[in-house]
Amino acid sequence: MDFSLNTEQLEAQKMVREFCAKEVIPTIGEWDRKQEMNPAILPRMAELGILGISIPVRYGGQGFDYITLGLVCEELERADTTLRVVMSVHHGLNSQAILQWGTEEQKQRFLAPQARGEKYAAFCLTEPGAGSDVASMSATAIRKGDKYILNGEKMWISLATKAHHFLVVAKHDPNATPAHKGMSAFIVTSDMPGVTTGDIHGKLGVRAGSTGWVKFENVEVPIENRLGEEGEGFKIAMSCLDNGRYTVASGATGLIRACLEDSVKYAQERETFGKPIAHHQLIKQKIAYMRQWYDTAYLLCMRVGYLKNAGIRNTRETSLAKWYATDHSVKAALEAVQVFGAYGFSDEYPVERYLRNSKGAVIYEGTSEIHQLMQADYEFGFREDKPLRCEAPAYDPEFWQSEPEAIAGG
Ligand code: CAA
Repeated sequence: MDFSLNTEQLEAQKMVREFCAKEVIPTIGEWDRKQEMNPAILPRMAELGILGISIPVRYGGQGFDYITLGLVCEELERADTTLRVVMSVHHGLNSQAILQWGTEEQKQRFLAPQARGEKYAAFCLTEPGAGSDVASMSATAIRKGDKYILNGEKMWISLATKAHHFLVVAKHDPNATPAHKGMSAFIVTSDMPGVTTGDIHGKLGVRAGSTGWVKFENVEVPIENRLGEEGEGFKIAMSCLDNGRYTVASGATGLIRACLEDSVKYAQERETFGKPIAHHQLIKQKIAYMRQWYDTAYLLCMRVGYLKNAGIRNTRETSLAKWYATDHSVKAALEAVQVFGAYGFSDEYPVERYLRNSKGAVIYEGTSEIHQLMQADYEFGFREDKPLRCEAPAYDPEFWQSEPEAIAGG
C-alpha cells in the first residue's frame, strides 16, 4: 500500500496550511473570545476553492479526490474546529449528498453555486427532541399537489443563520411503520416564506462558529426540490453522515496534531527542576501517546479516503474513524492542557480552546456511544450495509476534473 501523497494532495494541503497560518491562527483566539464568526472566513474559503474542494469541476468544484478533502479538514481543524465544521455541513453533509442523490437539474441549480462558494449550505436533521434517534423526529412535509408543506423545528444546526440552502429531512408520512420509511429529504432555500433562523449562544466550544436553529412554518417546498425518492429521507440522511463523519474524523485528527505540536514546542521551552519539561518521563509519555493517537487517527481516515475514492461503501470504517479520532482528540486536548500546566488553564495559549472545541465532536454526527453500538452490531452481524439505489460516486479524475463540454466531445 502506498502511503505517500501525490502532488495535487500536497499542494492542496500546503495551500490550506498557509491560509490558516496567515489568516486564521493569528486572530482566531479573539473571535473565539468574542463568540462570533469572523465574517471574512466564509468568503475567503470560497475564494480559495475550499468550499467545493472535492466536488467535480463540472458542478463548480475543484475536482480533488476524497483524500484531499480529509487533508484539508485536518489542516482547517489544526487551526480551529469552526472552519472544519463549515466543511462538514457545507461540503460533507449537504453538497456531497446532492452530488450523490440529486438530479442533473438540482446539481446545476444548488450544488454548483455551493461548490463555487456563492451559496452556503447547511444540514437540518436534528431536532430539539430527536438527536441520535433520527426516526423519532416530528418535522413533517405533507404533500399537497405539486408541493410539500413543511413544518418543524431543527436544532444544533451549524451555519443556521448563514446558509442559503438547507438539506431538510422530514416525515411525508408521520404514521409510517417502521417510522424511517416515512421520511423524505428536501432542499429548502432560506428565502422561502415561513423559514426563520436564529443563533444559539453560550456554547462550551466552537465559539467562533455559527450554530443555531431553523424553523419551518407552512413552508411550500416545490416537488422538484425533493432530493431522492419519497421515503428515501432516512437513507439519504445516513449517507450524508457517511460523508460528514469523514470530515469530522479528519478534523479531529488535525486537533490531535495541534495538541501534539503545541505540547512538543512548549515542553522544550518550559523548565522545571532545572531542565526543560521535555526531559521529564511523564511528559514524554503524554507526547508519545499523542503521537500514537495522531498516527492511528490519520491512518483510519486515510483508509476511509481510499474507500471513498474507490466508490466502496464505508459506513463501518467511517464510523470507526470518527469514533476513534474524536474520542482521542478529547484525550489529547486534556493531556495538552496538563503539559501546559496553569498556562493551559488560561486563554493565553490555545490548548484550552482545543479542549473546549474537542468535546462537541464526540456528540455531533453520531455520539461515541452510537458508534460503539454500530461497531459491535457490525461485528455480531446484526448490521450490514445494503446496496443503495444511488451509491456515493467514486473518484474518477477524468470526470471530476473535466468541463462538461470535454466529456461530451469525447
Ligand atoms: N447509508 C444508507 N442507508 C443506510 C445507512 C447508510 N449509512 N445506514 C442505514 N441505512 C438504511 C438501512 O439499510 C435500513 O434500510 P431498510 O429500511 O431498507 O432496511 C434503514 O436505513 C434503517 O437502518 P437501521 O435499521 O440501521 O437504522 P437504526 O434505526 O438502527 O438507526 C443509527 C441507526 C445508527 C442509530 C442512526 O439512527 C444514527 O446514526 N443515529 C445518529 C444520528 C446522528 O449522527 N445525528 C447527528 C446529526 S448531524 C449534526 O450533528 C448537526 C450538525 O450540524 C453538525
